[in-house]
Amino acid sequence: MTDLSVEVCGLRLRNPTMLASGVLDETGKSMLAVAKAGAGAIVTKSIGRDPRVGHPNPTVVELDHGLLNAMGLPNPGIELYAEEINEAKKSGIPIIGSVFGGTEEEIADLAMLMERSGADAVELNLSCPHAKGYGAELGSTPERVESICRLTRGKTKVPILAKLTPNTSSIADLARAAERGGAHCIVAINTLKGMAIDPESRQPILGNKFGGLSGPAIKPVGVRCVYEIYEAVQIPIIGVGGIASGKDAIEYMMAGASAVQIGTAVWTEGTGIFGKVCKEMSKFMKENGYATPRELVGVAHPARR
Ligand code: DHB
Repeated sequence: MTDLSVEVCGLRLRNPTMLASGVLDETGKSMLAVAKAGAGAIVTKSIGRDPRVGHPNPTVVELDHGLLNAMGLPNPGIELYAEEINEAKKSGIPIIGSVFGGTEEEIADLAMLMERSGADAVELNLSCPHAKGYGAELGSTPERVESICRLTRGKTKVPILAKLTPNTSSIADLARAAERGGAHCIVAINTLKGMAIDPESRQPILGNKFGGLSGPAIKPVGVRCVYEIYEAVQIPIIGVGGIASGKDAIEYMMAGASAVQIGTAVWTEGTGIFGKVCKEMSKFMKENGYATPRELVGVAHPARR
């Protein structure tokens, strides 16, 4: 099988697939299962300072081409979560701790605590589309993105991944701001803000009314965002949104991603998705004369052809 190993912002991955935040990453045990299934790295559930129960049910709506969810950032709080990181680290693959917070300082402090808990890198959730006071509410202006990244950089040593929202007029501006603030890598995209209404009851289905759309429906949006970001910044990009096959992953890499994250397809197809995507990537690379995944990165841009 082709050597799929890549290096992204100092993290060495045995292949370019990572578990995206939010699926099967609440416990050390579930993360170990994902590592065993072949993922190159794992991003944890987004963790905050205090325990949170999340939004009222229903929290997920299954659609024809994706999922709409508003979990509401449920998590046990950073102090308790350290145990899960410890367990997940037994896998030997990079564990990236995702954090969210209500203020710029809180996010930077949580990143510091995440590093202390043993995370190999931190992912800043600047992009959850529906939790009041968190996520995209802080991550929608370049000024705040820059200052959150700068504060975090001052309090951590591990690589900082800034996960950005597509619910904005210019994700490239947000990416430039993250780079100026000292982020080591951009993760694009988080979910698109959406809603679903049940015609019989005339009511919004989600307990929170609004949620984040993920899965195959958002792949073209994600690929476009990665393409725009690649032309705007020098730091590496991790692509996420609707990846369920080797060709999906390759599309993101040709747009400019150095690695990819998979979330919804783990929910719909199980952990076997990592092995499947890697096998399909290898096959495509062999058939098309690519020796390493690096050779795929950005080739859809005129300057790289
Ligand atoms: C949640 C967080 C996200 O960042 C997202 O895109 C979707 C859902 C949540 O926990 O509600």
